[in-house]
Amino acid sequence: MIPCALLLLALLSAPLQAQSALGGCLLFSGEERGYLEPCGCAKPLLGGIAKRHTFLKSLSGQWLSVSLGDLVGGDTLAAGHVRRQDELKAETLTQALEIMNYSIHNLGEMDLDMGLDVLAYLFPPGSVPLLSSNVQPSSPLIEVAPYKVLEVVSGGKTLRVGFLGVLSPSLVGSPPSGVEIIPPAEALPPLVRELKDKVDILVLLSHAPLEESLGLAGNFPEFHLVASGHGVDHPIVIKKDNTWVFTPGIKGKHLVLYHYNPDKGSGVMETVTLDERLEDSALMLSLLDNYQERLKEERLLSRVERFPLPGQTSYVGSRACSPCHPAVSQHWGSTLHATAYETLLKAGRASDPECVACHVVGLNYVSGFQSQDISPDLTGVGCEGCHGPGSLHIANARSRDRPSGLSNTDRSKDLSLQDGYGKVSSEGCKGCHDPEHSPTFQFEPFWERIRHPAEAPKTRG
Ligand code: HEC
Ligand code: HEC
Ligand code: HEC
Ligand code: HEC
Repeated sequence: MIPCALLLLALLSAPLQAQSALGGCLLFSGEERGYLEPCGCAKPLLGGIAKRHTFLKSLSGQWLSVSLGDLVGGDTLAAGHVRRQDELKAETLTQALEIMNYSIHNLGEMDLDMGLDVLAYLFPPGSVPLLSSNVQPSSPLIEVAPYKVLEVVSGGKTLRVGFLGVLSPSLVGSPPSGVEIIPPAEALPPLVRELKDKVDILVLLSHAPLEESLGLAGNFPEFHLVASGHGVDHPIVIKKDNTWVFTPGIKGKHLVLYHYNPDKGSGVMETVTLDERLEDSALMLSLLDNYQERLKEERLLSRVERFPLPGQTSYVGSRACSPCHPAVSQHWGSTLHATAYETLLKAGRASDPECVACHVVGLNYVSGFQSQDISPDLTGVGCEGCHGPGSLHIANARSRDRPSGLSNTDRSKDLSLQDGYGKVSSEGCKGCHDPEHSPTFQFEPFWERIRHPAEAPKTRG
C-alpha cells in the first residue's frame, strides 16, 4: 500500500488541466463558508466562484457536481459581520451553484442555522436539490431529498450513482423546531440496503468531522466514496480498504474529482487547486458586482453592530494628531496604511463591511468610521487603528501648558499622560495581519518597513 502522505502529495501536485483527459464523472467542492472570491489582501489568490466556473467549463465529458454544505457561516465573530450579509452571500452562492449546474447540496449545520424559511427561499423547487438522509424538516416549505440516484457517463458507459448524505448530530446544538436529526447509524442502513444493488457507485456525503467520516466508511463498506465536509482547511484523500475517504477543504479553494473506469472497475481521484492561472468567468463577475451593489443599496455598512468604547474616550481621526506629532504624521501619510480605504475604493469593495473592517479605524465602535463623508479622518489604518481612541490623550496633552521637548523626568511626572495611551503590541497588528489576510506577517520586519521617525512631541498644536 502507498503511504497516505505520498499519495496526497502526488494528487496535490497534479497539473491543473490534466483531468480533462479523464472525461467525466464526479466533482466535489467543500463547505462554501460564504467565500465568494479571494479578498486580494495577499497572494496566493485561491478559489472564488469566478475561477471555479471557468474551470468547470473547461472540463470535457459529463460531470456531476456536488456541494458539501454550509453556504455561509463560521465568521460570525469577525469584525464587520452583519447577519443580513450572510443571506445576500448565500443567495449569490445558490445562484452561482445553479449556473454551474450543481446536482446536489448536502445540508450542513450552518445551513440549518440560517432558519428553514431562509433555506426555503434559497432553494425553491427547481433549484439545486438539497440532500440529507438523516435530517428531515417537517415543513411543507422545503424539500430535502433522503437520497438521489443520478446518471453520468464515465469511460464511455452510463453509470448510476447513488448519493446519501448525513449531517453529524454532534454539530447541531439544538435543531430548529420542526427538524429532527436521526443518528446516521439508524438512518443509513435501510437506504444503503435499498440502493446498493441498484447503483454502480455508492457515495456518502458526510457533513461531519473527518474522524467520524472515517468511522462511517468503516461501518458501511458498501460506500465506494465518502466525501467528508466539515472543518478541514486543505484537501485530504485517504484510501481506507476499498473506500476513498476525502475532503476538498473549505471555501472552494480546491476541488476533488473522481473518474471511474468501468472496464477496470476502479476509479482515480484528483485534487485540483483553483489558482491564479484560471481566468475569471464574466458571468460570475457580474453576479459579484450585483452582490456588491446590493450591499451598497441596503447600506450594510451603517448596519454593523457598534459598541460603546470603555470610559470617556472616543476616536478623533488621524488629522487631530498631526499638530503635535508632525513628523510621525507626515511619514505615516506615505505608508499604505494611510490609503488602505482607497485600496478598497479601487477594488470596488468599499461598501462591503467585511472588507472595510480592517481598512479603516473603529468600524465596530460608536465613534468609529461610518462613511467617507461622515468620518473622512477615520479612513485607512489611521493612528488610532494601532494606538486606540485618542480623545482623552489629546485632552490630557492640551491641559499641559509646557514647552515641547520634555525630558524623561518631566514625562514620568506627567501623570495625565501616563494613562497607558498608545502602547502597541504585535498582537495589535495581528488583529488585521491574521494568517488569512497577511500570511507572511512577522512583527519585526513589517514594523521595520513603516517605523516612525524619531520626534519630540509638542504639547500644543
Ligand atoms: C496637543 C498635543 C497632542 C496631540 C493632539 C496628540 N498628542 Fe500624542 N503626545 C503628546 C505629548 C506631549 C506626548 C508626550 C507625553 C509624554 O511622553 O509624556 C505624547 C505622547 C504620545 C504617545 C506616546 C509616546 C511615548 O513616548 O510613550 C503616543 C503613542 C501618541 N502621543 C499618539 C498620539 C496620537 C495617536 C494622537 C492622535 C489621536 C496624538 N498623540 C495626539 C501630545 C499630543
Ligand atoms: C486596522 C487594521 C491593521 C492594523 C492594526 C495593522 N495593519 Fe498593517 N496593514 C493593514 C492593511 C489593510 C494594509 C494594506 C494597505 C493597502 O495596501 O491598502 C496593511 C499594510 C501593512 C504594511 C505594508 C505597508 C507599506 O506601506 O508597505 C506593513 C509593513 C504593515 N501593514 C505593518 C503593520 C504593523 C507592523 C502593524 C502593527 C504595529 C500593523 N501593520 C497593524 C491593516 C492593519
Ligand atoms: C482581517 C483584516 C482584513 C480584512 C477583513 C480584509 N483585509 Fe485587505 N488587507 C489586510 C491586510 C493586513 C493587508 C496587508 C497584507 C500584507 O501586506 O501582508 C491587506 C491588503 C489588501 C489589499 C492590498 C494588496 C496589495 O497588493 O497591496 C487589497 C486589495 C485588499 N486588502 C482588499 C481587501 C478586500 C476586497 C477585502 C474584503 C473582501 C479585504 N481586503 C478584507 C487586512 C484585511
Ligand atoms: C501600524 C500601526 C501604527 C500606526 C498606524 C501608527 N503608529 Fe505610532 N507607533 C506604533 C508602534 C508599534 C510604535 C512603537 C511602540 C513601542 O515601541 O513601544 C509607535 C510609536 C508611536 C509614538 C511614540 C514615539 C515614537 O516615535 O516612537 C508616537 C508619538 C506615535 N506612535 C504616534 C503616532 C501617530 C501620530 C500616528 C498617526 C499619524 C501613528 N503613531 C500611527 C504603531 C503605529
